[in-house]
Amino acid sequence: MTHQLTKKELRETKSKRVDFQSIPRNNIYIILDSLKCAHNIGCILRLADCLLVKKVFICGDTILPPNRKIKAGSRGAEKWVPWQYEKDATKITKELKSQGIEIVAVEVTDNSLDYRKYKPQEAVCLIFGREYDGVSQELIDLADVSIHLPLLGMSNSLNVSTAASVILYDVYAKQNAKS
Ligand SMILES: C[S@@+](CC[C@H](N)C(=O)[O-])C[C@H]1O[C@@H](n2cnc3c(N)ncnc32)[C@H](O)[C@@H]1O
Repeated sequence: MTHQLTKKELRETKSKRVDFQSIPRNNIYIILDSLKCAHNIGCILRLADCLLVKKVFICGDTILPPNRKIKAGSRGAEKWVPWQYEKDATKITKELKSQGIEIVAVEVTDNSLDYRKYKPQEAVCLIFGREYDGVSQELIDLADVSIHLPLLGMSNSLNVSTAASVILYDVYAKQNAKS
């Protein structure tokens, strides 16, 4: 389980970059599949920092830091969270899968599971899709499971960073729950 820092520890740690980088990170990876909105990318990088996500792969046709709009969403979190650009999301997904990491497409599909019923493995990679077309079919096919957040109203989807917030906190809580 990840060490939960007190506010005092957090303040002290934040001033010592070297110490911060030695904190064990959670076994959660994120793939962003060709996200187009810089603000969304920034918000997800900030979220990834808040939850000590192991790594964010920003993939495909996208926008990368340094970028003014990403920074507005991330509040500079790209400095703290490990991230890398990967042109080919399929390649990195296969690589993570071959390392035994559970691949989870976060998307509404015909077969997706309600996120409340999903039990994460020890190491998971969450794939979030592009604002207009979602996670590519190729990545959905590669995934071990697809999960969705129920949509009860007229909207077909949530904003990607809103969906990421709910799913990431849920996965983090389930992985760290005392059995
Ligand atoms: C705005 S949605 C994509 C559009 C959607 N596929 C459509 O055609 O209506 C962008 C991304 O947010 C995430 N997302 C949005 N709503 C979701 C939901 N209800 N369940 C799971 N993921 C969701 C997914 O990762 C999705 O690829």
